[in-house]
Amino acid sequence: MSDRVEELRGEAEAAIAAASSSAELEELRVRYLGRRAELPRLLREVASLPPEQRAAVGQAANQARQALEAQIEARGAELAAAELSSQLVSDRVDVTLPGVPPQPLGALHVLTSTRRELEDIFLGLGFTVLEGPEIETVHYNFDALNHSPTHPARARTDTFYVGSDVVLRTHTSPMQVRAMEAHPPPLYIVVPGRVYRPDLDASHTPQFHQIEGLAVDEDITLADLKGTLLHFARTFFGGEREVRLRPHHFPFTEPSVEVDVSCFNCEGRGFLRDGARCPLCKGEGWLEILGAGEVDPNVYSYVPTTEANAPGYDPERVQGFAWGLGIDRMAMLKHGIPDLRLMFENDLRLLEQF
Ligand code: PHE
Repeated sequence: MSDRVEELRGEAEAAIAAASSSAELEELRVRYLGRRAELPRLLREVASLPPEQRAAVGQAANQARQALEAQIEARGAELAAAELSSQLVSDRVDVTLPGVPPQPLGALHVLTSTRRELEDIFLGLGFTVLEGPEIETVHYNFDALNHSPTHPARARTDTFYVGSDVVLRTHTSPMQVRAMEAHPPPLYIVVPGRVYRPDLDASHTPQFHQIEGLAVDEDITLADLKGTLLHFARTFFGGEREVRLRPHHFPFTEPSVEVDVSCFNCEGRGFLRDGARCPLCKGEGWLEILGAGEVDPNVYSYVPTTEANAPGYDPERVQGFAWGLGIDRMAMLKHGIPDLRLMFENDLRLLEQF
């Protein structure tokens, strides 16, 4: 019996030493030490041996089992370490290999990103963003904005009429009156949106985009307008910019101004470093960016006082300023886009640049 134990032990030791993987080692453990294996069975049968053999056989078998268990554990650790390192080698990523080219991602249209940039500037000053209808009544588009019945902008050559008193809005200004009807003062709003006029050339398309601004409060002066637009110009075009106001006329502002920003291409000098005339401002040093003014008190008379806007807009008590700027024009100036029509042709060669 003891011989058989030694024989088994020798056989098992050789097999364990030769095991080449954890899986093979596990098979050997089951084969030599598992519940149905011969050695454990011999151990269980020790009790039924004649008493004089029990001690010797029992001791030999026990020692063999312990020795094999220890050997399996040691060999197991060796194999696990070898397997881990070979897996690390085979899993290694060669970071110098060329990568898979990324899928092309879409991007915001330059007009969308410009609109958002402009909105953010005015949101930062406390203005709220509102939108309004693109199909507008003559009342809001012209009458309530103090246009005389014969104002040339009303002509069918200057405005798309949908019906006798319904138009595609020619500007975002109609939202001035709509917003004042809906909200009491103080009011600080910007209104981005599409507007329509029957023009088509390098700087005009039948549909384009504006952002209206309106601030109505007590003690508002033209200085507040200038400060607001200076902040806008410096945030959008660069911290060194200046603005200047030139007298102009709009039916719904008094006084009215056109606002210029000092040219960012030539730092307002009108010429470039090499002495050439600045092509962006055409040597002027200034770029026209928008129309603006103090809200004409007449406009308030078109705003009925209701529950929604009480106490209403009393021109003796409130003053305001307004401006309208072209989003398309801002994007063209900032990015050097030479023709407005490019914005709407969906040519990837343009779109991919933004
Ligand atoms: N609505 C005017 C335009 O489209 C711009 C403007 C807005 C002027 C607000 C003054 C005040 O030309």
